[in-house]
Amino acid sequence: MNKPDAFTESIAEVSVAHASVAAEIHAVSQAAYTLEAKQIGCADFPPLRESLAQLQQSPDRFLGFQQSGRIVALLSFACSADALAITRLVVDPAFQRQGIATALLADPERRFPLASRWTVSTAARNQPAVQLDQRLGFTTAHATTSAEGIRLLHLTKARIWNVGKKTS
Ligand SMILES: CC(C)(COP(=O)(O)OP(=O)(O)OC[C@H]1O[C@@H](n2cnc3c(N)ncnc32)[C@H](O)[C@@H]1OP(=O)(O)O)[C@@H](O)C(=O)NCCC(=O)NCCS
Repeated sequence: MNKPDAFTESIAEVSVAHASVAAEIHAVSQAAYTLEAKQIGCADFPPLRESLAQLQQSPDRFLGFQQSGRIVALLSFACSADALAITRLVVDPAFQRQGIATALLADPERRFPLASRWTVSTAARNQPAVQLDQRLGFTTAHATTSAEGIRLLHLTKARIWNVGKKTS
């Protein structure tokens, strides 16, 4: 796996107000969510219903990971006074298992050092995401079941794991 810090320069905030950016984000999201739907055995996976127009209306902020000028992964989030909620984390299936999601999850700490609480939700059956989140220090706060019958874990951590930072 590549070191997440080596990826820092590939990550930049992007805006869905730009049609071409929104189209790239939509395409990556659809590809990753198609994989996730298969992994959790869900035929009607709500994130796959998101249209390009709905994405463009999103109030969230987006961090894109670019390779050769194309967005291949992204994290979206919503900020409140002291908390940061991760609302989407997707990596193009062709680019998975290279440490990109780890780098994207570490990046907001550099941008928002005052956010003291971080939250993320994922399907309980989504082993890759659960393993990733737990590895980065998130713990399950509570669980719910969606209208589609998907069991969701809501994870939190006091502060995101600081990749590569020395704690002397
Ligand atoms: C989950 C997801 C974001 C991970 O992206 P990624 O860039 O491949 O993740 P990383 O390379 O940073 O992986 C870090 C760790 O997460 C875990 N992990 C990631 N993918 C995994 C998989 N397919 N199976 C098991 N563990 C996995 C491993 O612990 C991995 O460390 P390792 O490669 O050293 O074993 C990606 O698989 C994805 O986009 N999935 C579809 C959408 C989704 O599930 N989003 C998350 C919802 S919150």
